[in-house]
Amino acid sequence: MTFTAFDLEYTQSLWEQKVDINLTESGVHPMRLDELLGEDKHKLAEMLATEINYPHVNGNPQLRENIARLYDGAKVENVLVTVGAAEANNIIMQTLMRPGDELLTQIPTYKQVWGIALNNDHKVNAFRLQADSGWALDVDDLNARLMPKTRVIAVVNPNNPTGYIMTGEEMDAIVNAADRVGAWILADEVYRGAERLQEEETQSFFGRYDKVLAVGSMSKAYGLPGLRVGWVVGPPDMVDDIWRRHEYTTITASMFGDLLATYALSPEVRPRLVKRTRDYIRNGFPILEAWINRQEGMFSFTPPQASAVSFVRYHMDINSTELMEKLCRDASVFVGAGDSFGMDHHLRIAFGQDKAVLEDAFSRIESTFKTLS
Ligand SMILES: Cc1ncc(COP(=O)(O)O)c(C=O)c1O
Repeated sequence: MTFTAFDLEYTQSLWEQKVDINLTESGVHPMRLDELLGEDKHKLAEMLATEINYPHVNGNPQLRENIARLYDGAKVENVLVTVGAAEANNIIMQTLMRPGDELLTQIPTYKQVWGIALNNDHKVNAFRLQADSGWALDVDDLNARLMPKTRVIAVVNPNNPTGYIMTGEEMDAIVNAADRVGAWILADEVYRGAERLQEEETQSFFGRYDKVLAVGSMSKAYGLPGLRVGWVVGPPDMVDDIWRRHEYTTITASMFGDLLATYALSPEVRPRLVKRTRDYIRNGFPILEAWINRQEGMFSFTPPQASAVSFVRYHMDINSTELMEKLCRDASVFVGAGDSFGMDHHLRIAFGQDKAVLEDAFSRIESTFKTLS
């Protein structure tokens, strides 16, 4: 069995510290610590006086309560705190997948769960999100690819890389499919809260079906990726089983991650963070859209409903990884290659940055494109 690298994260490791402008971040421009704490001198003093111990292995109860509040019907015992959504996805797969089990997932998608399954010798089947129908789910394809051995259906909703939010009917189609074969739903919902067009937050899969593990994170909707805090919300006995893998993998999140995530998700602070994220998304997208519209037929795309990225098809005969590398080398601008999400001839372009950064990046991309056409 050959090892499958995590293509997107691998290319980010290679390029993100080398380029002038990194437009591969699907979250918004990260928040500074002083911006998070604002005028709250008490919190700063509390941090300085904190013993840098291991925090609660499964997340401190206040943090777990703050997370539970984001899910209808969830309680503290439904929540496990992890080192980012990355760890959550990983230990969920470790816990659920047995020899011979298969994964059913989407294309295009963030391919972490996909790669984990392949690297553990599981068959992966994928159903399409349809580019020519605004990224709507192809329900016939979903049903055709469902197998008796499907153990997990993994979805990212709102989706990365397209920013598409599933309708209630599409969510029901996923639940019905899972129910038919007794599969679990791994719902990676890290972009929940990062909506562009709507005020209400995206519905969670949690509560729609018994066998749901919903994953969230501080990285995207809250602009705090460096905290490295994520979580799983699910049935308490399954959450306990996942916690047993967490002890092997990372033991616990960091003390300051735990402390600051608790603060950030408190009812007093959280709305300010969600507003900041949405402001970046809502101000950044029109700059991308106006630039694309000026490129006269070079691109086609469906505007994202959430997240700080857009998955854009380019009409040029060049492979997306080649194009991404050329942009890094010639323009010093880094965008995601469609290949990393399972769909060539696309670029994932992030727009959750300040206007001047975006305008500089787009004019550099344009100059490189002119040398190609
Ligand atoms: C869909 C999705 N899940 C998980 C992650 C990893 O998130 P975290 O920083 O919380 O580990 C990402 C990061 O890009 C993502 O896009």
